[in-house]
Amino acid sequence: MERKQDWIRDLVVYQVYPRSFMDSNGDGIGDLNGVRQKLPYLKKLGVNALWLSPFFCSPGDDNGYDVSDYDGIQPEFGTMADCEALIRECHALGMRFIIDVVVNHSSDEHPWFIESASSRENDKSDFYIWRDPVDGHEPTNWWSVFGGSAWEYVPARGQYYFHLFSRKQPDLNWRSPQLRQQIFAMMNRWADRGVDGFRLDAASHYAKPEHFVDSTLPPMPDGYAPAFDQLSNTPETHAIVNAMNQAVFTPRQLFTVGEVGCQTPQDMQDYALPQRQEFDAIIPFIPPQEEVGKKVAEVLRSRYQSQYDALHDGSRWALFLSNHDKPRQVSSWGDEGALWEVSAKALALCLHGLPGIPFVYEGEELGMTNAYFPRIEDYRDIDSRNVYRTLLLEGKTPQQALQGVWEVSRDHARTPMQWDDSENAGFTCGTPWIGVNRNYREINAARQEADSLSVLHFYRELIALRRRYPVLRDGDLAFLPIAPEDRLLVYRRQDQGIRLLVTANLSHQPCALPDSLSSHLRTCTPLLTSYNREGNPEAGTLRPFEAILWQETAEE
Ligand code: GLC
Ligand code: CA
Repeated sequence: MERKQDWIRDLVVYQVYPRSFMDSNGDGIGDLNGVRQKLPYLKKLGVNALWLSPFFCSPGDDNGYDVSDYDGIQPEFGTMADCEALIRECHALGMRFIIDVVVNHSSDEHPWFIESASSRENDKSDFYIWRDPVDGHEPTNWWSVFGGSAWEYVPARGQYYFHLFSRKQPDLNWRSPQLRQQIFAMMNRWADRGVDGFRLDAASHYAKPEHFVDSTLPPMPDGYAPAFDQLSNTPETHAIVNAMNQAVFTPRQLFTVGEVGCQTPQDMQDYALPQRQEFDAIIPFIPPQEEVGKKVAEVLRSRYQSQYDALHDGSRWALFLSNHDKPRQVSSWGDEGALWEVSAKALALCLHGLPGIPFVYEGEELGMTNAYFPRIEDYRDIDSRNVYRTLLLEGKTPQQALQGVWEVSRDHARTPMQWDDSENAGFTCGTPWIGVNRNYREINAARQEADSLSVLHFYRELIALRRRYPVLRDGDLAFLPIAPEDRLLVYRRQDQGIRLLVTANLSHQPCALPDSLSSHLRTCTPLLTSYNREGNPEAGTLRPFEAILWQETAEE
């Protein structure tokens, strides 16, 4: 068997959000057999690993990130036989299969929780975080991510349980040795079923304080306050991840990527440097709110510079602009109008030119855009509804609150994949569980398949280039300080005399390049450009969202 350290160097991961990818049976919900139908499409794209967001049994309060049976498949997604067939078929096509492991919390409908909540004395009594009331109230003023208090009272125990996310997502107690053993055993069973890796959800919050104290951070409009400073990246959480690694990841040779909220380079290193024996790679969680209004050139440069500095010594990191928790990248960073296509390509080129493990989120390879539903009722996401409520509490009008939702909604990324221009974009022959983006007749896979200069073909070329030029994977990275740095992104990749250069204008206006750089570029060969439809680059300036990958002439 190929060693993990060898195959993870070549990974290009495609994230499937199963609910929205492909519906095989007309119930309006994407499913595992839908993913199986589309494997040839994914193979052709060139990705060699799939990460599926959760498809396990779940009441669906947070679209599957609330698991009620870690070993069962939610019936609307299919059966265990479908899942095993999908894993086999991936492997037959040379693709790895990665599942989402959600063990910061479970569903409140998990049998463990039902038992734990039934009394103070039962086998699972300590599987969750239970605390006595303080003066007849919640133990602390802590806020939950999806709104309201992080504590919920259960009369049968006369106690509160802690939930960092929704009320229906009680946090698991990693201090319980039995809980640990059960989770490790569950992970091992998935390894037995053939999965190659895990994405570990909300992994920076595993350990909870022994003694909870009130947060002193500014409260939300509902009066409850976030307390990430007391909760995240604690030594105890690292010890838990290390124990997982020893018990499961290393013995089973699994690729692991942790979703972690990292504040400092040290935090990243603590999760991802090989000698730590925790994760192979990390996905830093950045709340969409923090990205609103930022310039992508600055974000990419500072984010990847600090990740590179922290991690290039022996570890890998996940590169992404999109996932199921963010608005669509073209809408946030590019252009939804006349520059839609070049901006989708430019963003892709800037990301895929970097070292690390590129992640492609479903639909990104088509340049899918935000949906901007006209009514709050059209939104399905628990977080979007909470944002709306919070903005109303802050005194915004319903229309302003809706606009606030448009800025950050996770549902932008969760509208159905746009396969073709037939009804419902070819996603389902039934009624889709969430609205299809109105632009599906213009933006869809069938149309882009037929157009060799489309965004889809551009992604295929980028992924193929990564295989043809190992320098893209392994080479050193250096950002060049070329002004204006809020619009221009310029970086070099270098490995044993092979040098590639990316020059990108990530803005809506043309941008002149300094003479020294333009004359150097005249000696370079363009390998790929976001203006591939229009032809050759112009010397001396970059057009709006023009991004070019150059090969530099070898030094004499
Ligand atoms: C992660 C997931 C997100 C989910 C949350 C709680 O951030 O990516 O979708 O809501 O964890 O599980
Ligand atoms: Ca279905």
